[in-house]
Amino acid sequence: MNSIMRVLGIETSCDETGVAIYETGKGLLSDQLHSQIQLHSQYGGVVPELASRDHIKKINKLTEAALEEAKLSINQLDAVAYTAGPGLVGSLMVGASFAKGLGFSLGIPTLAIHHLEAHLIVPLLEDPTLSFPFIALLVSGGHTALIDVKDLGVYSILGETLDDAVGEAFDKTAKLLGLPYPGGAALAQLAKEGKASNYQFPRPMMNRKGLDLSFSGLKTHAANVLKRINYSASQLPDIAYAFQEAAVEALITKAKRALQQTGSTKLVVAGGVGANERLRERLKEMSLDIGIQTYFPRQAYCTDNGAMVAFLGSLRLARGEKDDSLAITVRPRWSLEEL
Ligand code: KG4
Ligand code: ZN
Repeated sequence: MNSIMRVLGIETSCDETGVAIYETGKGLLSDQLHSQIQLHSQYGGVVPELASRDHIKKINKLTEAALEEAKLSINQLDAVAYTAGPGLVGSLMVGASFAKGLGFSLGIPTLAIHHLEAHLIVPLLEDPTLSFPFIALLVSGGHTALIDVKDLGVYSILGETLDDAVGEAFDKTAKLLGLPYPGGAALAQLAKEGKASNYQFPRPMMNRKGLDLSFSGLKTHAANVLKRINYSASQLPDIAYAFQEAAVEALITKAKRALQQTGSTKLVVAGGVGANERLRERLKEMSLDIGIQTYFPRQAYCTDNGAMVAFLGSLRLARGEKDDSLAITVRPRWSLEEL
């Protein structure tokens, strides 16, 4: 294997088409993204069939744009990494078929990437001083977990949500507040106009031992409050504020507990909700308080992107992993602990 490796990374697990190129020794050469937010917003959520069709429409163009941005010809690629799961089956199939077809036609290997592992690992792309082991707080639209990241590919889940993911709770509550899909960032924006008030949300699972979380009660509470006040617009910022405080506090409490239980001094925040400014602020306070270091990827790497897939692909390729088979298989449900 020659020392310079250029890996094309393809992300199509949900509603973002991401294509990026990572070169060992040099870093990220290009990073192209198309978000389907507008396409799905009129339906209030992701429509899987429309998502797959849109990935098909965009994937060629984004790949061409990624090659152009990196100033490379397609023959200069050494491998194609693609998200094989977890995610929407149709969307995953688009990325997997494209990657396998490209790999076969170019005579280069492919690598099946776990979407959540890519989220966990991308902070290493941002910060070369970060090293294994660390604790990861994974907060996305589909998953919420505290993970003991011992080494590349060695993960144990310390605790996770028993119902909704925190991003899902943000999105569902945002919808109740009349905000457009996906509501997480919009709710956070509305909360900036709000203040501490009499609206108090429950703090889920705080009195329970262990590291599991629960977020479905927050959405139910929001629905009940809104019914009571008859959706009075002037109250919405304070409700958004109170919701966000409760969700963030639940995450902070359990993250702190995970660090104390394991004795780890490094916390990595990954996934879409990692873009939340209030969460970042509270985590910084907590890390000063208990003397640990917190790492956040930049906002664009918190949400779905091709860079994390290309980067993880390069790490796995460097370990000699690759797949030359032509079988196209995706894993819509795939636990990190099975890696
Ligand atoms: O990781 P991600 O891009 O997709 C999944 O793999 O799920 O996460 C998307 C989630 C959505 O629920 C979105 O509303 C939430 O991240 N999100 C936010 C913010 N930005 C994105 N939630 C709260 N505050 C934000 N600023
Ligand atoms: Zn994601």
